[in-house]
Amino acid sequence: MTEPTPTDQSSRKVEIPLVPDEHWRRDFPYTAVGEELVTRRDFNRYLAAASGAFAACTLGVAAYSAAREVTPGEPAPIVELSKVARGTSHLFRYPTSHDPAILVHLPDGELRAYSQKCTHLGCVVFWEEGGEDLYCPCHEGHFDLHSGVPLAGPPDRPLTRINIEVREGTVWALRLDV
Ligand code: FES
Repeated sequence: MTEPTPTDQSSRKVEIPLVPDEHWRRDFPYTAVGEELVTRRDFNRYLAAASGAFAACTLGVAAYSAAREVTPGEPAPIVELSKVARGTSHLFRYPTSHDPAILVHLPDGELRAYSQKCTHLGCVVFWEEGGEDLYCPCHEGHFDLHSGVPLAGPPDRPLTRINIEVREGTVWALRLDV
């Protein structure tokens, strides 16, 4: 009798006996090479190892987030007040160049500044001039223009407010109100 060549072995079909009560095997008759070699115990070991790895990663990310300090920012000029008329807004970055923020000059003359990061999932909120609130288009989130508190949609925390001050005609960001 001749030995099977490597080509013969790779094309060899793995026959898996059909156990009478394995109905699923009849309905789903697909097999993978070597599947009969994985025991239930091995499978459970892999499952436990993968679950453990995911749990460890999750804990690591949570610990990193908790340890990371929120930078409230340093005083920095935003824009000359004369360039932001009542009823308009001005976009800027604060406290770092990666953090979008919005300064709103309300029709009543009040000034408000907020981080533009929606407190739901971090999309950018904006203000349609003349509108009643700040709006997040991702999931229809709405925030009060005067206080930043959520009015509608999924966000349940207010926008991060930025403390501001007008110094000699220029609006300054002082720090995040955190
Ligand atoms: S990210 Fe703003 S409402 Fe979801």
